[in-house]
Amino acid sequence: MMYSGIFDTHSHYDDDKFNEDRSAVLSSLKENGVCGVINCGCDLSSSLKAIELSEEYDFVYAAIGIHPHEAAKAEENDPEKIKRLFSKEKVVAVGEIGLDYHYDFSPRGVQLEYFEKQIILSMELNLPIIVHDREAHEDTMALLKKYRPKGVVHCFSGSAEMAKEIVKLGMYIGLGGAVTFKNARKPLEVAMVVPGDRLLLETDCPYMAPVPLRGKRCDSTMITYTAEKLAEVRSCQVQQLIDECCTNAKELFKLP
Ligand code: NI
Repeated sequence: MMYSGIFDTHSHYDDDKFNEDRSAVLSSLKENGVCGVINCGCDLSSSLKAIELSEEYDFVYAAIGIHPHEAAKAEENDPEKIKRLFSKEKVVAVGEIGLDYHYDFSPRGVQLEYFEKQIILSMELNLPIIVHDREAHEDTMALLKKYRPKGVVHCFSGSAEMAKEIVKLGMYIGLGGAVTFKNARKPLEVAMVVPGDRLLLETDCPYMAPVPLRGKRCDSTMITYTAEKLAEVRSCQVQQLIDECCTNAKELFKLP
């Protein structure tokens, strides 16, 4: 089935996994129904690459920030160093930023410090944030409640209750390939309670390819499987859901 108006709010086309055919993949997205892509940086160098991609492709926008995994390499990834990059025209968000207590690649204190710094930065810049929260729900909620930034919690892995709290704060919920996985009880409960005007579609490509392509290298066209699953549990038309999510993305990231 062919859909149109697909907006992928979370991608990493700068990833090495696209080194062989990056331009071929990106050039084919539009003819496959993709109208917009946010490419998220994770450190200084991938943020620079995200900006490059946004300058090369009209439908690509950049989010720049320091991911919790990279926060430990403070020297090269000090948020101060990315500050100057926000003057670039197609930088639409601070991200991805957040907390990851699953891998704990960076000490939690540093993760918290970087997350907080970048939330404050987003508010100074009046830009939304793209939040990564893995097994750090409590600390994530505490900071979001303290500052009430605009933005999205991507690849949302919390409970339906937490999703409602996020929505109450005025933020969006990003759902991706995980909703199609066999063990996807929680994300599907979340999918059922998020209001239509707060839902965003995403891939996190090259990772998180949805079933039936799980394990393959993901790209934005695969969002259709996620959209079909979400439409099924929300009892709506797939194209209608894709359109609604596209409208939401344009609203949040202030796009034409
Ligand atoms: Ni990501």
